[in-house]
Amino acid sequence: MKKTVTILLATLLTAIVGCASYEPISSMRGIDVASGDAAPEVKTYVGKRPGTAGNQKIARTYAEQPPVIPHALDNFDDINLEENQCMGCHSPAKYQEKKAPKVGDSHFLDRNGNKLADVSMLRHNCTQCHVPQVDAPPLVENRFIGNVKQ
Ligand code: HEC
Ligand code: HEC
Repeated sequence: MKKTVTILLATLLTAIVGCASYEPISSMRGIDVASGDAAPEVKTYVGKRPGTAGNQKIARTYAEQPPVIPHALDNFDDINLEENQCMGCHSPAKYQEKKAPKVGDSHFLDRNGNKLADVSMLRHNCTQCHVPQVDAPPLVENRFIGNVKQ
């Protein structure tokens, strides 16, 4: 009986001390953990319209990296089954006329590495791999070092 009381008191004491030292968790979102997601802040892309003077290709940090997009994507329609505005400038048929870089050689291979006459549908959703840039501070420290000499 005496032992039970001691254990009970010890448990109670732990609970009280535990409560007193409670500090609210601050999340990286900057709002209460339990509250709903706020709409993300709208950020503007660093690059201007494709082909505008000043748009610089951004150096790749490792050999197999899909290059990031140095121009803005504002006013582009979403990519869907019928439409792909990226191909209006980057396809093998259009790139010279539009003075845009041609899609990468790897885009002409099927999943077994066989060469195709046209761009593989595996690459249709361009923005799955290529992303435009905004000038935002990193959320966490990043010490990644690429393997491409710059
Ligand atoms: C109106 C023509 C045009 C359209 C549409 C367009 N681009 Fe571009 N893109 C360019 C040009 C021109 C460049 C060269 C940089 C510049 O001048 O902006 C470029 C550069 C790029 C690069 C950089 C390549 C490298 O080697 O660094 C990527 C990646 C890219 N575009 C992807 C896309 C994707 C994905 C889309 C669709 C969401 C798209 N582009 C739509 C014209 C276009
Ligand atoms: C599954 C990922 C993936 C998808 C989807 C994809 N790409 Fe790429 N892209 C890459 C990688 C990786 C490279 C670099 C290797 C290469 O050049 O093939 C690249 C390279 C490029 C380059 C630079 C080529 C060069 O010679 O420097 C352009 C331009 C490009 N892609 C445009 C596009 C467009 C437009 C689409 C949509 C039709 C697209 N990509 C879809 C991964 C992807």
